[in-house]
Amino acid sequence: MKRLAIPVFLMMLLMGNAYAQTKTGAGAKKAPAIKAKPAIAPAPKKEDVEDGKVLLTKSDCLACHKVDTKVVGPAYMDVARKYPYSVANVELLSNKIINGGSGNWGAVPMAAHPTLAAADVKKMVAYILSLNTK
Ligand code: HEC
Repeated sequence: MKRLAIPVFLMMLLMGNAYAQTKTGAGAKKAPAIKAKPAIAPAPKKEDVEDGKVLLTKSDCLACHKVDTKVVGPAYMDVARKYPYSVANVELLSNKIINGGSGNWGAVPMAAHPTLAAADVKKMVAYILSLNTK
């Protein structure tokens, strides 16, 4: 019995996903599926990150920001380290970019960008916050 239990357990581990899927698939009908809200938002969408990178070059951002060194504004990598990717942080930083502001990195204020579309700014932030994984 003991000898069998270990290989069976390993097999279940190896089957990983398949096992989990059959479990939730068949069993889910009996018990209502609970959709747990992840504590941390999933990583930014790849398309958003790619779009955001391009959008940054079309605005004035790079006049004051570089990826890895402070210019007038903080390095984007430092911003990414300070703010882990989450829905709340994307919201917070997007508002800051659109409305401008100061005080988080020093006395120099960031100019407001009222003409940028909120959706575009969120993509820019997705790109910026993706930099903490590199
Ligand atoms: C005129 C210079 C300037 C330009 C242009 C500029 N920034 Fe900034 N940015 C700053 C400064 C200065 C800060 C630090 C503000 C502070 O201390 O709160 C900053 C901060 C930030 C932060 C961090 C905000 C926080 O609350 O920690 C982000 C994100 C950011 N900028 C993104 C952008 C994006 C995206 C653009 C282009 C749309 C842009 N910036 C254009 C100067 C600039």
